[in-house]
Amino acid sequence: MQSQDLTRELFGRRFQNPILLAAGTAGFGRELDGILDLERLGGLVTKAVSREPRSGNPAPRVAEFRGGMLNSVGLANPGAVRVRDEYLPWLSRLTRAHVLVNVVGSTAEEYADVVGELDRNPVITAYELNLSCPNTRAGGIEFGADPRSVHNIISQCRARTRLPLIAKLSPVLPDIAGMALAACEAGADGISAVNTMPGLLFSDRGGARLGNGNGGVSGPGLLPMGVLAVSRIVDRVGKIPVIGVGGIRSTSDVRQYLEAGAALVAIGTGALADPHLPERIVSELERGKWLS
Ligand SMILES: Cc1cc2nc3c(=O)[nH]c(=O)nc-3n(C[C@H](O)[C@H](O)[C@H](O)COP(=O)(O)O)c2cc1C
Repeated sequence: MQSQDLTRELFGRRFQNPILLAAGTAGFGRELDGILDLERLGGLVTKAVSREPRSGNPAPRVAEFRGGMLNSVGLANPGAVRVRDEYLPWLSRLTRAHVLVNVVGSTAEEYADVVGELDRNPVITAYELNLSCPNTRAGGIEFGADPRSVHNIISQCRARTRLPLIAKLSPVLPDIAGMALAACEAGADGISAVNTMPGLLFSDRGGARLGNGNGGVSGPGLLPMGVLAVSRIVDRVGKIPVIGVGGIRSTSDVRQYLEAGAALVAIGTGALADPHLPERIVSELERGKWLS
């Protein structure tokens, strides 16, 4: 049987298929060496990179429940300089899969400094700006909930790089499509939707199940919210590439996002549960399963 052509041109680059690994669930790639073949995928999004190293939140950091997973990793990472010097070089061995770097900060300047530190590294295809972080200068309101903050982050990052900037938005925004439009008007080249949904679970013995108290919900329960978000963004913003994220655990889930208009999709919790899932989905897409 002839293999389906899954290639797509986005951000001025060729992606061999639409399947990415989602931010925070694939580390910096080398953690998955020998577990899955990254070169079979469209690419991976690294875990969050902040300007300074972050040790993250107290354990336990993840808790499973029937609808998926609750996590509060706290964006633990070694900081931009070590990522540049110790982690990105490993990724330069990839010749077919793209590398998108997830960026976080507690001020707009911090986002821009991370981009400035990592830029001109040929391994990076694009930056994904995680706009769900709390803005410390605005009483902890998340950046992505305020169009002026979104504008500020994107324009400051734009001043530090010519690479594509992708704004990653939260599913709790009252008007996610309006915020996507604001991001595009500020110069974003793409949108990722969605991040995790805020949640809290108590243990049977009392007390929160996560060391941090609350966390973010990911996994199957997020699928319809992600698909709706992508559909609304595509309807409102039109031509900009959208990366659909949330709840994917099968080829048919990928098809939901593609039907909503996503250009690419990213798999997180589904790949944590079954590391071979992304490659299997690529094979099924190649065999035309999504057309059946
Ligand atoms: C353990 C864990 C860590 C995550 N870390 C990040 C991160 O560093 N940056 C980010 O933008 N999103 C992060 N996310 C959110 C995922 O990238 C994704 O948006 C979300 O989990 C929904 O997709 P899923 O249901 O396929 O997991 C994380 C999710 C999980 C489960």
